[in-house]
Amino acid sequence: MKKRVGILTSGGDCPGLNATIRGVAKALYARMGDNVEIVGILNGYHGLINGEYKEMCEDDFRGILTLGGTILGTKRTPFKLMRVVEDDKIDKVAAMKKTYKDAKLDCLLCLGGNGTHKTANLLSQEGLNIIGLPKTIDNDIYGTDVTFGFHTAVDIATEVIDRIHTTAGSHSRVMCIEIMGNKAGWLTLYSGIAGGADIILLPEQPYDIDRVCDAVERRAKRGSNFSIIAVAEGAMNVDEAKMKRKEWTAKRAEAGYTTATNRIAAAVQKKTGMETRVCIPGHMQRGGSPSAYDRVLATQFGSYAAKLVEIERYGVTVALVNNHVTANRLEDIAGKTRNIPEGCELLTVARRMGISLG
Ligand code: F6P
Repeated sequence: MKKRVGILTSGGDCPGLNATIRGVAKALYARMGDNVEIVGILNGYHGLINGEYKEMCEDDFRGILTLGGTILGTKRTPFKLMRVVEDDKIDKVAAMKKTYKDAKLDCLLCLGGNGTHKTANLLSQEGLNIIGLPKTIDNDIYGTDVTFGFHTAVDIATEVIDRIHTTAGSHSRVMCIEIMGNKAGWLTLYSGIAGGADIILLPEQPYDIDRVCDAVERRAKRGSNFSIIAVAEGAMNVDEAKMKRKEWTAKRAEAGYTTATNRIAAAVQKKTGMETRVCIPGHMQRGGSPSAYDRVLATQFGSYAAKLVEIERYGVTVALVNNHVTANRLEDIAGKTRNIPEGCELLTVARRMGISLG
């Protein structure tokens, strides 16, 4: 029986989205031949809401394994607004269901992070046939050991730390490098260890600025003329950790900061007397071609999703568990974040190596 398969990419982009789209498409064409038609939904749920989609053909999926970004475009359409009717008077859930019906879809594949999975679950509960695919450089999707895009971002952030090392040494400076990751610090932890950072500050481990400064001074006393501090975008100090998010973001804004990085740099310079600079690689961490690891993972995930389409297993998302590709039920993972647990072995490794976690 012929199947029409919709694909969309939603939320922040990352390397490996196209490789995953290709994995899905190639495997679908290989397994189902003329019995499959693929429909590309443009710009994520925004396109699904507004009826923006296009028929795709085999040619569209050629030559995109190494391509960064997403050929389908993406947008952030916050989950919390999905059931809210705004000024445009559009009932978003009804509109998404209408597009699914108009495009005559048998199922819809949603490639994205935590927000995308919450909406995917909502659509599944609304009766649509949904399969999720876990993407994000943050690596914080519940129920999977890894998401595609993460390892490429680790490689990029590690290169940043490597390059900052040489300039930090030449100038005898402390360098604070802000790594992406608002809620989860996986990217900072991995790249911090891979890049040999001296201090790693994570959202999951609130820091004490005195301990950070002590670590810098200890290194200086032992003959190191520089220090590298890898700061997760979402790092917070021990006082902030006791407050509600709204409260501490307001306090920060009042003091002229958004993330903690510039504040940490200013405090370190003042307390230690060492010249301190900030480096924010930002969206560079999400750009460009996926690493070999992510190409393999994307192909594993994409081809597995094609199998799920074929056997009509819906309401699930693809995952890697103990090196084995499998699927989790959307309702079991949606709305949960995979943070670094206290017992994480890499935290132990960091502490054993004398890396300060603040
Ligand atoms: O979720 C991925 C991510 O890159 C986060 O690490 C970061 O906090 C956020 O997206 C940035 O979002 P935007 O691209 O909307 O600025």
